[in-house]
Amino acid sequence: MGAAKAAKNDEFYTQYADIQKEINAYLEYNPDTFRDKTVLLPCDDPEWSNFTRFFAQNFERLGLKRLISTSYAVESKKYKDYEPTLFETESPLFDVDKTRIKGKIFELTRDTNGSGRIDIDDLEWHYLDGDGDFRSPEVCKLRDEADIIVTNPPFSIFPLFFKWLLEGQKKFLFLANKNCVTFKDVFPEIKNNHIWSGRTEWSGGMWFETKVASDVDKVINGINMKNVPSVWLTNIDHGRRHEPLSLMTMKDNLRFSKHKQIREGGYPVYETYQAIEVPYTDAIPSDYDGIMGVPISFLDKYCPEQFEIIGSDIKGISENIGIQPIGKDWMDRYRSFGGTGHYTANMRSLVYTVNGIPKKAPARILIRKKPQQ
Ligand SMILES: C[S@@+](CC[C@H](N)C(=O)[O-])C[C@H]1O[C@@H](n2cnc3c(N)ncnc32)[C@H](O)[C@@H]1O
Repeated sequence: MGAAKAAKNDEFYTQYADIQKEINAYLEYNPDTFRDKTVLLPCDDPEWSNFTRFFAQNFERLGLKRLISTSYAVESKKYKDYEPTLFETESPLFDVDKTRIKGKIFELTRDTNGSGRIDIDDLEWHYLDGDGDFRSPEVCKLRDEADIIVTNPPFSIFPLFFKWLLEGQKKFLFLANKNCVTFKDVFPEIKNNHIWSGRTEWSGGMWFETKVASDVDKVINGINMKNVPSVWLTNIDHGRRHEPLSLMTMKDNLRFSKHKQIREGGYPVYETYQAIEVPYTDAIPSDYDGIMGVPISFLDKYCPEQFEIIGSDIKGISENIGIQPIGKDWMDRYRSFGGTGHYTANMRSLVYTVNGIPKKAPARILIRKKPQQ
């Protein structure tokens, strides 16, 4: 079961419109983001990838110097249901001995067909020496030659991909499952403003084309689609991350918040850490100077000029920021109210009490307002 699920998880394909929407945000912010740059699209399937299509079709508009796209050999994939495309079989380079075991590289640098422009029809390809694994020496070399790496990588080996990406020390933009922002290697990079959320909002997840029948959530225009809670993560600047959240004061929130929980319960102070509980990003009080515990989804709205990230209470990523054990007293009260959570008195968690009822906050990011410039 687990293996089958993992096998399915890596084979889904990003929609053209989603790539276009995201890339356009970087161009709006800086029209030269991609000018004279070499862009590498690893973990792709260039014959049907919308990443390759988008960057090839927009090669001149973006001002690219070189576009490289690599794919992973079918025999190395977990899901092996594959037929070579006509593009490959009708090419003089087609090799029946290589088609299933070698990766492929597609490259665009010049006008090969004399059309007067460089576009998707000018893509040149050949088989790689190996299977196209992003960790292989030949793809690492391409990473090192690139200026910008863009992809939707295999989530089943996300930590390995992320390590590979950081080692490259390049600009990048990639899609990942939302929960990766709480991974122990990822969160510190976000906290330190080395990487951030892309332009596309987090809510609603994203729809991807899938070739795995049992993975289909919906058929849209005859195409099998799967919904994945996804986020773009990047170290390329865009405008949305510099737009501060528009927020009400604490006094106004307590009177007018759309959340009954805020109007009736206010902002409880944690018993294990000097901070207040803010269960909704839109209820962050604009005038509170202390530390606040906010939901993970705050990161979608995080503007580094408006807030700083202090840390988190999430197990495995909480740095030692001084959260105290929840203690026997809180545990006894919690149990006496019928609480059945698997907590113990020595756990360092964010707990509080509202109207006499002991509560434990879900995973929180701890933030503080930046002083006004
Ligand atoms: C989520 S899919 C995305 C494909 C494409 N980038 C897109 O968005 O349309 C990830 C792809 O990475 C491939 N892959 C899996 N392991 C890989 C590896 N070690 N190296 C390179 N690609 C890999 C998968 O087979 C799959 O085609």
